Amino acid sequence: MRILVTGGAGFIGSHYVRTLLQGGYSSYAGAQVTVLDKLTYSGNLDNLLPVASDQSYTFVQGDICDADLVAEVLPGHDAVVHFAAESHVDRSILGAGPFVTTNVLGTQVLLDTALRAGVGRFLHVSTDEVYGSIAEGSWTEEWPLAPNSPYSASKAGSDLLALAYHRTHGMDVVVTRCSNNYGQFQFPEKVIPLFITNLLDGKKVPLYGDGGNIRDWLHVSDHCAGIQLALEKGRAGEVYHIGGGQELTNRELTEQLLAACGRDWDTSVEYVEDRKGHDRRYSLSIEKIQNELGYVPAISFDRGIADTVAWYRDNRSWWEPLKNRASLGA
Ligand SMILES: NC(=O)c1ccc[n+]([C@@H]2O[C@H](COP(=O)([O-])OP(=O)(O)OC[C@H]3O[C@@H](n4cnc5c(N)ncnc54)[C@H](O)[C@@H]3O)[C@@H](O)[C@H]2O)c1
Repeated sequence: MRILVTGGAGFIGSHYVRTLLQGGYSSYAGAQVTVLDKLTYSGNLDNLLPVASDQSYTFVQGDICDADLVAEVLPGHDAVVHFAAESHVDRSILGAGPFVTTNVLGTQVLLDTALRAGVGRFLHVSTDEVYGSIAEGSWTEEWPLAPNSPYSASKAGSDLLALAYHRTHGMDVVVTRCSNNYGQFQFPEKVIPLFITNLLDGKKVPLYGDGGNIRDWLHVSDHCAGIQLALEKGRAGEVYHIGGGQELTNRELTEQLLAACGRDWDTSVEYVEDRKGHDRRYSLSIEKIQNELGYVPAISFDRGIADTVAWYRDNRSWWEPLKNRASLGA
């Protein structure tokens, strides 16, 4: 079994690769893993250090938009798990170009090459953000896509392209759409690691708008477990939601992080101007993946956050240089 993982040096991709190579997905024990990653600002080989000397692991530095390179690397793999993306909404508001290039064109290059090479299964990692915002209730997989940010619009483009390759060419494609992730090795521009590292440094945290935006927070290991289930047992051409962590307003999230870091609201929180086009609430129904594939999230938010805070406390040498380089001191 040979698996190509794109974006495997990023936050979620590296969790998936480490777990796979360390035997966490028993039916894929002994699988050969190739990581194809451009190593953009958010890609980091340190995330893969625990498996760097594994004989079953190969790293290729390169761009998924480079059709010649992808044609060299991809054939011979039995499955593609496609994480590579520009992933930060705030960056997409400042400049959408790299989002369209990597997320849409890069995905099309991978799909075309996988089709020509006759790769078995192509698992496309998508996001709940493709649906836009929902005031009440939860999205099902049939809900129309209505993305609001350049990030989510580019992810919707790639998500629909992947499904189109199934419908047009009969390719074995599965799409997963997941809620917000947190956990160790997350680049410290995203809200949870940004807030934790600021609080550990005695700095304030910037809270957007009125702090009332709601997200469903899922531990990265539960996301990767859902991806593996969909890869192994999902039906071709289908979309599966992965979520079921905990819905929280950003104010509630901030309170939990303050408590975990031993800080108080008045000296630590600064309200800042809201993000442009900020989606108010995301909420996924996960009935389909639960009923069809037996998915159950395993990590409670309280336990996951305590572990994550402890990890950032103990791994300052991982995040401090990244934060300094990216000037993320806010
Ligand atoms: N973080 C979340 O909460 C979340 C939730 C749902 C879905 N997702 C999706 O999961 C995937 C991974 O997200 P993440 O948070 O790990 O992102 P990340 O930014 O931490 O990692 C992205 C990785 O892709 C690589 N990459 C970027 N452009 C590339 C290119 N052109 N060619 C090759 N590699 C490239 C980067 O170097 C990096 O290693 C993305 O597709 C994202 O849309 C993320």
